Amino acid sequence: MMNNNNQTPEMALESLAEQIRACRNCDLARGRTQAVPGEGNVRAEIMFIGEAPGKKEDELGHPFIGPSGKFLTSMIEDIGLRREDVFIGNVIRCRPPENRDPQANEIAACRGWLHAQLQIIQPRVVCTLGRFAMNTLIDPDMLIGQAHGIPVEKDGVLFIPLYHPAAALHQAKLRDTLIADMRQVRVELQARGLWGKR
Ligand code: URA
Repeated sequence: MMNNNNQTPEMALESLAEQIRACRNCDLARGRTQAVPGEGNVRAEIMFIGEAPGKKEDELGHPFIGPSGKFLTSMIEDIGLRREDVFIGNVIRCRPPENRDPQANEIAACRGWLHAQLQIIQPRVVCTLGRFAMNTLIDPDMLIGQAHGIPVEKDGVLFIPLYHPAAALHQAKLRDTLIADMRQVRVELQARGLWGKR
């Protein structure tokens, strides 16, 4: 299928990634090695949206490739998917200094990229990883301790807030909760007849 500019979704996603790599919408652009646009299947039913690139992601330009990325990948495989089946991105695309929390102005500057990717991919399910993605995409007042694992339907998309894999790597209890919530993602999809649709 082509869009108005005679582009396939693959072309549209890649051209967006090129624009993100050149983005200078906020000051984080000055300190980055490279921006990390996000990557995966343009026909993905599920998107995973994290917080921001870390050291390794900044060096290599791919999302979730450090320790929390390995954990995320193992959970994706645990529910019967591969990284290539899903799309993985972040709320902000440039590494904050020393991995500090993203600031509101940085999230605002990067928001348009996330919405453009959602438009192109049109996933059925978006799993937010950590509070920044949850507060940006679902509800600014939501608390992760209460909301994790509970799906929220919004604009025809099922959003499922999950703990961030990095937080879960540091706290054994959160790790078990995250693994259980992730398995529930599959159950929720199957219950809605959305598993393996594309
Ligand atoms: N943490 C994130 O939130 N995103 C990444 O890409 C890597 C680590």
